[in-house]
Amino acid sequence: MMSASQELEQAATKYAMEAVRLDKQGSRGMAITMYQKGISTLLKLVRLYPNYGLNTVYIQRAQAYQERIKALQGEGPVQPIQPQPEKTEMMEPSRETDTDGKASYDELVLKEKPNVSWGQVVGLELAKRAIKEAIVYPVERPDLFPLGWPRGILLFGPPGCGKTLLAAAVATEIDAAFVSVDAASVMSKWLGEAEKNVAKLFNQARKTANNGRPAILFIDELDSLIGMHSNEVGGETRVRNQFLKEMDGIIDKGRNIHAYVIGATNKPWALDWPFIRRFQKRIMVPLPDHEARLSMLKLYTTHLNLASKVDLDEFARLAGGFSGSDIRDICQSAHLRVIGELFESGQASDKHAKPRPISMNDFRGILEDRKPSVSPRSISSYNEWSEAFKAL
Ligand SMILES: Nc1ncnc2c1ncn2[C@@H]1O[C@H](COP(=O)(O)OP(=O)(O)O)[C@@H](O)[C@H]1O
Ligand SMILES: [Mg+2]
Repeated sequence: MMSASQELEQAATKYAMEAVRLDKQGSRGMAITMYQKGISTLLKLVRLYPNYGLNTVYIQRAQAYQERIKALQGEGPVQPIQPQPEKTEMMEPSRETDTDGKASYDELVLKEKPNVSWGQVVGLELAKRAIKEAIVYPVERPDLFPLGWPRGILLFGPPGCGKTLLAAAVATEIDAAFVSVDAASVMSKWLGEAEKNVAKLFNQARKTANNGRPAILFIDELDSLIGMHSNEVGGETRVRNQFLKEMDGIIDKGRNIHAYVIGATNKPWALDWPFIRRFQKRIMVPLPDHEARLSMLKLYTTHLNLASKVDLDEFARLAGGFSGSDIRDICQSAHLRVIGELFESGQASDKHAKPRPISMNDFRGILEDRKPSVSPRSISSYNEWSEAFKAL
């Protein structure tokens, strides 16, 4: 039988492998989600088994994942993931040999469910409700929807606020076949095959749905489908037209199948009307408000040892303008800072040594060192776009 620590370690390895695989493909959003799960699992392991010999390795690993997330969250192109220098059991051998950057169909498509629950998505009540109305209820009771249901759902809003997380949660919630691709990597890695592979994606979804099982096709960074860069002249127009055609096939009102397309984008203004109108539901995923920030802080500090003077309500106020991803990052940084200190001081080998409590000053320091990753100016762009195009 496996011990609980072995199970956690195995889970962490699994998340890490999946994260690295997604990362290599360029599926940034899902890779971040998986790295985060890897970090949480490693930190849980360290917390539950503080005297475990490999803890230093786990903490370093968690820090490395955090660094990677930071790189992936930035705008623009990212350096491809580097092979780690030292091999430990947490590292996985790289499975695919690096080719010329071109990828096969299966390499870019995530078919496993990411295992994220609704409870892990803080706030966003409107978005959750809209998704439940559009997908969850029609799947449970199709008889109550004589007029059919929407098939296309667009999630838009600033980066790091839970779009990818929401899609992952829907996948877990209903027993659907879940297929996820990142449009940016579709365009850059499927090269001449993008058109054909887009058709294949939709065919798979339709086939599953025709056989009676709901299917969700999640397309992250949807705006990339009409991006500027394509290795082929005219390539992006063809992929784009293929996509529009496939969407029409899914929307076809005549047949009420459970095939859904969820698209996510940080740049809704890059979409044109033919794209927009095929997503009948258009849902904003906004920056967290005070209450949501407070809930996130509670969630992300549940297992942390906080000094008694730490006032989370005040912290939530100071964190105005920060995204969910920023807030999670701040909490994890504080955590890694105090356990890092414990290890550096050499006290960690003492069975009873505990990291010092995290103080309000730690949080203040981290907050002062960083700016919200979303600018106030872009917030008003999201609001304007939402006023013009939202559809709940
Ligand atoms: N509403 C939220 N509730 C809980 N965690 C969040 C939320 N929004 C963001 N996060 C954290 O930030 C990470 C990145 O969020 P993500 O869903 O990828 O953002 P987006 O797709 O909008 O850019 C998540 O994995 C999660 O850790
Ligand atoms: Mg995302």
